[in-house]
Amino acid sequence: MKFLIIPLSLIMMAYASRFVYKVIMCFFDVPKKKKIIVSVAGAITLFAICMFVGGVLLAVAAHMLIFFLMADVLLQVFKIPFFKKYDPTSFRYFKAVFSAGLFLFAIAMTVWGSFNASDIQIKKYSVSFEGKDYDATKVLFVSDIHAGDSNTERICRKLKDTCNTEKPQLVIIGGDIADSSTSLENLNLFADVFSQISKNIPVLFVCGNHDIMGGDGYGAETIIRTLTSHGVIVLTDEVFEFNGIDFVGRNEYYSPEDDSRRKSIQILAPNVKTKATVVIDHQPKELEKLGEIGVDMSLSGHTHNGQIFPIGYVCSLLGINEMQYGIKRFGSNTAIVSSGAGTWGMDVRTQGHSEFVIVEIK
Ligand SMILES: [Fe+2]
Repeated sequence: MKFLIIPLSLIMMAYASRFVYKVIMCFFDVPKKKKIIVSVAGAITLFAICMFVGGVLLAVAAHMLIFFLMADVLLQVFKIPFFKKYDPTSFRYFKAVFSAGLFLFAIAMTVWGSFNASDIQIKKYSVSFEGKDYDATKVLFVSDIHAGDSNTERICRKLKDTCNTEKPQLVIIGGDIADSSTSLENLNLFADVFSQISKNIPVLFVCGNHDIMGGDGYGAETIIRTLTSHGVIVLTDEVFEFNGIDFVGRNEYYSPEDDSRRKSIQILAPNVKTKATVVIDHQPKELEKLGEIGVDMSLSGHTHNGQIFPIGYVCSLLGINEMQYGIKRFGSNTAIVSSGAGTWGMDVRTQGHSEFVIVEIK
């Protein structure tokens, strides 16, 4: 994914610096040629600073890009009806004030987003499976931890506290515990917490797309080996039975063309019609199909509910994920999608909230 971050950041920086430059230069008359040179130089400088400083500044840049894009559109709309009859200078001043305001708003939103990301909420759901025989079970579902230097200690502490206060009977980690920036040290800190929890209750884990790609200097095998050696039950297209319920941990989804790397639910859980069955799939996929074949519940993460405003709304509008967030019924399947405990790329969340999910299966 690193190869995508660099060109994307460069585009964002180029656009943002172009706009900042336009705002400053609207007070002066500068030849077009010079504008291009200064814009490119500004983009490279901003990009270099972002790469050096990292996450939060990248978040400011992302919000700047979004707001400047919105501003560009709005300014074009305003320009036509309100400024057509005025001289160009009035529009220049308006544009400068408007853009400076948006720039400050982008910074304020990022600062708020970093507080929002660190505030992990407990989301509770209560479900029951019709016509199936099983014992009531309380599940703690945690997805998308994306362990990093800024969130590892916080999420580890919250995990221990939540297990003590909520007293779940089963903990499920729904993938993306790591990403390309996760150090082995941080992964081990989580493994130690899981080790403590697994002495009392089972801890299940399925791989997410980022786990498959591995952490900082190590691969998916290391993640699986580390967790397994600390008492975690890693489900790779496998079933774990608990309280009369089959918990089916699926392999990570790749693409519609190449989904041969994971078995079908009918093969993994042949008694799905008569036995209580919960599917754990990092990405919310085939939710309707699960409901047609008799699955009772699916647990997923992956979407982060957008994480950065307004990405979640855009994804929902374009139907990028089968389900973006929350709880929804598809036939027999009660699908739950979590916004995740951590964040990706930057420790900032300006859409949705960070959460742990408690599911009471009654
Ligand atoms: Fe994720």
